[in-house]
Amino acid sequence: MSQLRKTGFAYYHLGELIQYEGVEKDLEQLQNAFDDLPPDEYAPHLNRRRRYARAVIMPGSHRVEWLPETIIDGQDYYEYFQGSFNPEYTGEYRRFPALTKETRANRLLEEIIRFDFKETFWMKEDALMPIHAGIHFVKLYVKEEGDVAVSSPNNLHQDGEPFTFAHLIRRRNINGGINAIASPKHRGKMLEDMAENEVMTTFYLEEALESYGVYDPLVAHYVGEVTKGNEEGSGERSAILIDFQPTVIANPDDIRSMLGDTTNMISV
Ligand SMILES: [Fe+2]
Repeated sequence: MSQLRKTGFAYYHLGELIQYEGVEKDLEQLQNAFDDLPPDEYAPHLNRRRRYARAVIMPGSHRVEWLPETIIDGQDYYEYFQGSFNPEYTGEYRRFPALTKETRANRLLEEIIRFDFKETFWMKEDALMPIHAGIHFVKLYVKEEGDVAVSSPNNLHQDGEPFTFAHLIRRRNINGGINAIASPKHRGKMLEDMAENEVMTTFYLEEALESYGVYDPLVAHYVGEVTKGNEEGSGERSAILIDFQPTVIANPDDIRSMLGDTTNMISV
């Protein structure tokens, strides 16, 4: 039984586990992608920058296919919609600037998604359809002395998706960014409010491709805030977060496209 299945948490160093000719160049390209992340427009004051994309992964073949982006005013976005199956529920609608086409074509990114996916496990009813992967590029960025960059949410929490994996891409000139894992009963707490024996583990991701994964029902997780280090210039903690959730056939009553009003429907 894998570590992730046993405890709900596993650490991986993908720098050791993913090796092929040209991997260094692909890593460099992913690092460069973090130089060009727009501020998180939903939380601009938190010193967070991000891009997002969606892919599906075929059970069996593990083929990764990117979903199409939406173009709004000439810019590429991925829309983010929770509660879309329920026509009564307008849900939380957000959109994030898309990962660039170049980044989506990066082989290392695809290998990382596939590695993570192979670590996941499912009830067979949930894995009859392709699995959805949400890929977040998130940079905690501190420019000036006194700046604080914060992850969301900023406490021990569960994501609500079955699996989330985090992959460090670059960490430079920062203090903080501690990771912690604990039982879900400590949800909502800050790390400093917990006794040492209540925490399953704490660690820092330091090197590129140091990673961890959580099976969300079994553990809560946390990333501490980040402040600028002692060197000149800015500091950053750049990471790729990948979450997986099933796509399942919806109950006909819950499908918006069954409401019968064809005027606002689109061909895809
Ligand atoms: Fe999270």
